[in-house]
Amino acid sequence: MTLVVDDIGLLVTNDPALGAGPLGLVRDASVVVDDGVVVSVGSAGQVADERIDAEGACVLPGFVDSHTHLVFAGDRAEEFTARMAGSPYDGGGIRVTTEATRAASDDELRVLTAARMAELHRAGTTTVEVKSGYALDVDDEARTLRLAVEFTDETTFLGAHLVPIGYEGRADEYIDLVCGPMLEACAPHARWIDAFCETGAFDVDQCRAVLESGRAAGLGLRLHGNQLGHGPGVQLAVEMGCASVDHCTYLTDADIGALAGSDTVATFLPATDFSTRQPYPDARRVIDAGATVALATNCNPGSSFTTSMSFCIALAVRDMSMTIDEAVQAATLGGAAALRRTDVGRLTPGSAGHLVILDAPSHHHLAYRPGVPLIRQTVR
Ligand code: NIG
Repeated sequence: MTLVVDDIGLLVTNDPALGAGPLGLVRDASVVVDDGVVVSVGSAGQVADERIDAEGACVLPGFVDSHTHLVFAGDRAEEFTARMAGSPYDGGGIRVTTEATRAASDDELRVLTAARMAELHRAGTTTVEVKSGYALDVDDEARTLRLAVEFTDETTFLGAHLVPIGYEGRADEYIDLVCGPMLEACAPHARWIDAFCETGAFDVDQCRAVLESGRAAGLGLRLHGNQLGHGPGVQLAVEMGCASVDHCTYLTDADIGALAGSDTVATFLPATDFSTRQPYPDARRVIDAGATVALATNCNPGSSFTTSMSFCIALAVRDMSMTIDEAVQAATLGGAAALRRTDVGRLTPGSAGHLVILDAPSHHHLAYRPGVPLIRQTVR
């Protein structure tokens, strides 16, 4: 079946060969999609089986959310409330979610995950990465990944999220479990492996062991790093050739230099810094150094319970010194780079026909009108 999205006032293609500037902007455009794949990007007025009239609005590629923790049960609103009253965030609440997630049935987790996926879709996101990491035992980590696979191909094994109850003071033993039986049970359901490299979670050697085991099992590499303070996460991610290092809230000049000299994407999660009252990273330094950057929601019950990429874009523009064009590109093409995908995050012949029609004449409104639901329609 052929679909034409017609009468587009402003089209963001993310391909400079197709239009103006780095976003490849085309005015008065249409996009023709055949069997889910873009076959042409041209002027308005093309013919097809089905037609969506954008009525002069802006159309952009669907957002690519390269960092979420969607499969979980339980609620941590009280933790958030306490934080807003002054309690610091230290990641310890992960154990609270772990208890609730282990206790939930498959059907309960499936319903919760489906609702969050639907929310992401309504918010304009068409590609979603989902991590495990709220089960922290062999059977339940594999179970949550099996559930995640029902919703996305971009699944990540995050057994090294936090030392679970029962392993206090025995982090190395837990890492042996993660790198051994847990990885064996989880690898068939995961594309990626990840670890939380942070004081209070896992140190650089433990994270290196996790990444090396994951690579040996055929998984791609990603890392949580430099979220709550300066640390070795970014350098480790670059050393290991991770596709992405996520958070990057605290970066030294050496970290930025390492990122710039690598193809590891720096993925910023500004809704996390918002929700944990961390300072925002200075994305300008990272971009000006030449590194590739992405924006993601980090949707999870503890540090960032939002599915709104628009909110992340607005924060990145307001508080991280990104231009609106850079932020929109980081939420689309940047997310695709962080997932090593070339078929999403752009609207070019051959790419996936995943697109968002805004209730606005330009993508600038995503930052200019924060908090306003500007996603008129998500097409996937
Ligand atoms: O990316 N940093 C580690 N993991 C999540 C937080 C999870 C939680 O607090 O439940 C994050 O922020």
